Amino acid sequence: MTNLSLAAKRRRSEPISMVTAYTTPSALHVDRAEIDILLVGDSLAMVELGMETTQGVGMDEMIHHCKAVSRGAKYCMMVGDMPFGSYEVNDDDALRNAYRFVKEGGMDAVKLEGCRPETVKKIVDGGVAVMGHVGLTPQAISVIGGFRAQGRTAVKARQLVDDALKLQDAGCFAIVLECVPEPVARAVTNALTIPTIGIGAGSGTTGQVLVYHDMLGMTSHPHHKQFVPKFCKQYADIGETIRKGLEDFKREVEEGEFPSSEFSPYVMGEEELETFN
Ligand code: KIV
Ligand code: NA
Repeated sequence: MTNLSLAAKRRRSEPISMVTAYTTPSALHVDRAEIDILLVGDSLAMVELGMETTQGVGMDEMIHHCKAVSRGAKYCMMVGDMPFGSYEVNDDDALRNAYRFVKEGGMDAVKLEGCRPETVKKIVDGGVAVMGHVGLTPQAISVIGGFRAQGRTAVKARQLVDDALKLQDAGCFAIVLECVPEPVARAVTNALTIPTIGIGAGSGTTGQVLVYHDMLGMTSHPHHKQFVPKFCKQYADIGETIRKGLEDFKREVEEGEFPSSEFSPYVMGEEELETFN
């Protein structure tokens, strides 16, 4: 998958799928499912690193995980999420950091939050494809005040359409719309020629993205305080499968059931054994 094949999908009105991944194993799964776009999201902070927000991850952590992901994915278009503080201070730093995602991380493109057409233009002119992200932009949590829906007034909805158009004009190949009412996401999608990828944005977008751990129920363990957003459908209950596997192992170890002879494969020659004994 490339940004050209995505544009072709958009022209043919074919929906686009996108899922996050953070490690080689999760990348292998996403790739094998032939998901169109694999996002190494800065949701890494929350679903893999136990942080409360996405603000705590930096370039080095993101690159570390991008490297792992790019070893696992062959089919998907891979997008690296530019972390909080890596693109806002000035456009030169933004471009430098975008290059790191491609040259070190093995990514095909980067994503950055908010309406920053100048920054997008700088990065695209520098040769790196950029995905936009408007609506709820979690890195700005301290300004927004909480993880809540955006664009819920006519004025704010209009602003969102304008922002998306600016990002398209600046050269974005696609835009994520996070946590906005369905009519707003639909209006943005109709106003644009590039694909929109929704999360908590209803069915009017070109594509849909979900976070790997949320959609697969990786965090369903009752002791895990991770909350799954209400827009997220759970397609599997992997956390429950993991919990059962671990508990079964513990019980079998405690009861002397594991390892049975079937799992004790290494043998010694009879003569050697006699000498040894
Ligand atoms: O970091 C992330 O997982 C994201 C998606 C929710 C779009 O930005
Ligand atoms: Na993100």
